[in-house]
Amino acid sequence: MTCRNKMTNWMQLFLFFFSFNVIMFTGTAASVQVPKIKLNNGIEMPVLGLGTWKSKPGEVTQAVKDAIDAGYRHIDCAWIYGNEREVGEGIRKKIKEGVVKREDLFIVSKLWDTFHRPKDVEPALRQSLNALGLDYLDLYLIHGPTGLKPGSDSYPLNKNGFVIPDGVDYVDTWKAMEEVYKKGLTRSIGVSNFNKKQIERLLNSSSVIPVTNQVECHPYLNQKKLADFCKSKGIAITAYSPLGSSDRPWAKPGEPKLLDDPNLKAIADKRKKTPAQIILRYLTQRGFVAIPKSVHKNRIQENINIFDFQLSPEEMKYVDSFNRNGRLLRFESGSKHPYYPFHDEY
Ligand SMILES: NC(=O)c1ccc[n+]([C@@H]2O[C@H](COP(=O)([O-])OP(=O)(O)OC[C@H]3O[C@@H](n4cnc5c(N)ncnc54)[C@H](OP(=O)(O)O)[C@@H]3O)[C@@H](O)[C@H]2O)c1
Ligand SMILES: *[C@@H]1O[C@H](CO)[C@@H](O)[C@H](O)[C@H]1NC(C)=O
Repeated sequence: MTCRNKMTNWMQLFLFFFSFNVIMFTGTAASVQVPKIKLNNGIEMPVLGLGTWKSKPGEVTQAVKDAIDAGYRHIDCAWIYGNEREVGEGIRKKIKEGVVKREDLFIVSKLWDTFHRPKDVEPALRQSLNALGLDYLDLYLIHGPTGLKPGSDSYPLNKNGFVIPDGVDYVDTWKAMEEVYKKGLTRSIGVSNFNKKQIERLLNSSSVIPVTNQVECHPYLNQKKLADFCKSKGIAITAYSPLGSSDRPWAKPGEPKLLDDPNLKAIADKRKKTPAQIILRYLTQRGFVAIPKSVHKNRIQENINIFDFQLSPEEMKYVDSFNRNGRLLRFESGSKHPYYPFHDEY
């Protein structure tokens, strides 16, 4: 009897430590290692990042903390999202806890359209750094080629509802971007929402090649031509709205959602993955960087859990075939701007 009791105690002790270790182990194992790509300036960028557009200030700090715990090291921010202070709180908390070091992180922000005058670039970058509570960025992007009238209105519209341009050439803005890069305020610079011609113009008239062009990209707008062009110039594609941005403010109720696509669902079911995971795997397997947004821990974890399987060449081709010129962010109020990027095919 004594022996049995002893055994039981011993086993209980063992089970206690064992389960404790399982908790400890799953605690770390739940943190996914995200592969990185090498940018044209030698800097490495994690191929999956957390999007933060529309993430409310009251929820984004927790989302950033959950993301870092899950293994995210890349956070996509922008001045215009109005939440950089709260994003920064999450980042700084995780650095303070010792979960990550600043140099493990890849923090992106973007120069808003009303700050395109060369003299406004450095102050705008410093505003983002201040809000984030950081002393450098890993990547600073021109948010879009269409500069807008400077002033307190960050989205100036005329009577007809079209944006008011600033008359600034984005090539001049880019030259100021080169300056903040050379000063070390950011480890790399890039663009967003630029079309082929606009990138070509930049390349023809400046010295630093953008490391990436961040553009809308998902199975309904797979950006094959723009991506091939960018690749030929050493420019990486960062895919925004990869999951179809169902929370975009202008989405109409009842509009079909990318994540509900039955063909996508069929692949997901076969693979025992979710439609979101199939899309993110598809994009990263093409060599792109993807930045899905979520403020829910379970989805934040789901979206990073894509590095334990591969889509076959046939599956990749099949997802390619979903392409249907399905641009969701058309920026129609900008369509009369001289630098509106979406009149061209790509
Ligand atoms: N450069 C630019 O001009 C530009 C433009 C657009 C976006 N971006 C960047 O790209 C990021 C991502 O794009 P996005 O925010 O437009 O859209 P998205 O990432 O395609 O989709 C976000 C929506 O999908 C939901 N979601 C996330 N994961 C999910 C999952 N696993 N299952 C089901 N639903 C899921 C989110 O809901 P919950 O949050 O409620 O979970 C949210 O409603 C932005 O946040 C921003 O950082 C940049
Ligand atoms: C850029 O330069 C190349 C080579 O000189 C030329 O073919 C191309 O038309 C130029 N593109 C633009 C948009 O200026």
